[in-house]
Amino acid sequence: MKAIIFGPPGSGKGTYASRLSRAFGVAHISTGDLLRDEIKNKTSMGREVESCTTRGELVPDDRIIGFLANRISQPYCAKGFILDGFPRTIPQAEALETITSPSVVVNLCVPDTVIIERLSTRLTCRNCGAIYNKRFQPRPKVEGICDVCNGNLYKRDDDEPEVVRERLDFYRKMTEPLLSYYEVRDLVKNISCKKTNVRAETVVEQIVKILNVEIMNTKKSSDKH
Ligand code: AP5
Ligand code: MG
Repeated sequence: MKAIIFGPPGSGKGTYASRLSRAFGVAHISTGDLLRDEIKNKTSMGREVESCTTRGELVPDDRIIGFLANRISQPYCAKGFILDGFPRTIPQAEALETITSPSVVVNLCVPDTVIIERLSTRLTCRNCGAIYNKRFQPRPKVEGICDVCNGNLYKRDDDEPEVVRERLDFYRKMTEPLLSYYEVRDLVKNISCKKTNVRAETVVEQIVKILNVEIMNTKKSSDKH
């Protein structure tokens, strides 16, 4: 499986991709999570991109493409992967094609009103990156503590309302146009999530069905050849 989970900030990419990667036993590659690790570890990449991510701007293509290429070629991606937050521009999509061709793009259609509500109350584990919400499911069992690793939960710097607006702006201008790039290749499957009270598991079930069909189709076409 070579899947892309596509959608605006706060549409649920990380929440779904982490569950799907466990369900299908494939790698979850979130460029946002990887960049936050670089920043946490104060690497040279981390120092370079910190101001960009805090302002909600995109990291330059030439920096992020090499960074992603390095991850995707590692053994843990050999059985397949789910990309979350990459590609985000046409040059990134073209660069990905030179490494490997994605087989499906799951596009999360979520209105801005839902996104703004969710991101104002999102909590993230500082240790393992697990995602929670103060108001909506999934909520942590113990306030402020990660269910998975007991790490402390925090509010991401880029979840401040003015930064969320900036990120949505970048998404509309730079990332959404990518949908046509994948639509002409017949790879896009839309998932609509218009309400705040839908449980993540319900949406995951819908995506699992899409991915199972994609796996069957890939198998059929490889059996033919
Ligand atoms: P990144 O971390 O990828 O941020 P993003 O794309 O803006 O998306 P988010 O992580 O904010 O949201 P999400 O869709 O994962 O939603 P989540 O599952 O958390 O990137 C951060 C920055 O890194 C970028 O701004 C940029 O600077 C840089 N960057 C990264 N990749 C780059 C690239 N390729 N090129 C250039 N720069 C790059 O869910 C949101 C909330 O909703 C959670 O609280 C969740 O619990 C809650 N929720 C409630 N109900 C549901 C439900 N039913 N389903 C899912 N979630 C729900
Ligand atoms: Mg995310």
